[in-house]
Amino acid sequence: MTNVAGLVKGLHHISLVTSDQELNRRFYTEVMGLRRVKLTVNQDDPFHRHLFYADEKGTTGTAITFFEWPELPRGYVGLGSPHHLSYSVKSVDVLPKWARWLRSNGVNVAGPFPREGRLSLYLRDPDGVLVEITAKNEEGVTSDHLRQQESGEVKEVTADMKLVKFDHASPLSSDSLVTHKFLEKLVGLESFSERENPDQEGTSLVEIGTPDNPGFLKYLTAPSAKTGMVGKGNIHHIAVAVEEDEDQLRIKRSLDDAGIRNSGVIDRFWFRSLYFRDPDYNLLEIATKKPGYGVDEPIEKLGTTLVLPSWLEGTRGKIEAALKETDSKGSKTWPPRYETVPSPPESLHARRIEAA
Ligand SMILES: [Fe+2]
Ligand SMILES: [Fe+2]
Repeated sequence: MTNVAGLVKGLHHISLVTSDQELNRRFYTEVMGLRRVKLTVNQDDPFHRHLFYADEKGTTGTAITFFEWPELPRGYVGLGSPHHLSYSVKSVDVLPKWARWLRSNGVNVAGPFPREGRLSLYLRDPDGVLVEITAKNEEGVTSDHLRQQESGEVKEVTADMKLVKFDHASPLSSDSLVTHKFLEKLVGLESFSERENPDQEGTSLVEIGTPDNPGFLKYLTAPSAKTGMVGKGNIHHIAVAVEEDEDQLRIKRSLDDAGIRNSGVIDRFWFRSLYFRDPDYNLLEIATKKPGYGVDEPIEKLGTTLVLPSWLEGTRGKIEAALKETDSKGSKTWPPRYETVPSPPESLHARRIEAA
């Protein structure tokens, strides 16, 4: 058996589905304070955009990416269609600022909720994606205390408020031990812990990761979990990071040896990708840290113009025309009407998210 322990270092990027690139861009840059680091098309579906937002440098573990698929129906959370993603911020002190800032932009915010040594806010993006903002609560500050700090005006996402990196992604699992054994043996994610989910009786939270970085996958687990559907407003896949091509190939060998279907290594230019599904049909990806988003445009210009893989340059005209056509049908209402956060946020009850 191929030894794969310790090869995966944490999250690489998380990819989702949006209905409108303009609302998506305004939300993730102007409201969430990220930077667009790549404007391109889906290499597997080149007449639709693929948008990447990350920190200023495009650091691994900060990038949230979106396929623009306005034609797709609204999806819903379940097995195969992950529940939410979580970004960490520097300290709990900035959570009241985030709450004020988001509310002043018309976003519905819930929290802060206590989360095993952390405090978290929850919100939905313009497509209904559930996003958590979390901070370590080293001094044991209470949620009530933070709520009392919510006064005054916040005019921008200040440097102290910046989203630092992903804390976790939360897919669903129907069987914690099956998920654990699969990820431990085939992907080398050895760290595992399970506890009751405070947001829903009879379900559990399963943290899977590495000893150095435990719990970057936080599965919401219930034997009764139903199948979901990926669509607008949902997570499409979750990518974890390896350092080298060789590490990725070792994981491929491990999947092949176990007879697990996978995509083989695909060159995405900014990284190389290997896709497969976990036992509950969640789409996972192993992505290399190198070469990074600066390989085809200077760091200061990242994400400002449409970049295409060389094999698509010949069809640039057609692609640009198709994207223009999509834009002509898009909604231009800003701010959008944001949906409310389910209560409690990490329950599996609210599977189908009704459009606003
Ligand atoms: Fe979470
Ligand atoms: Fe990906």
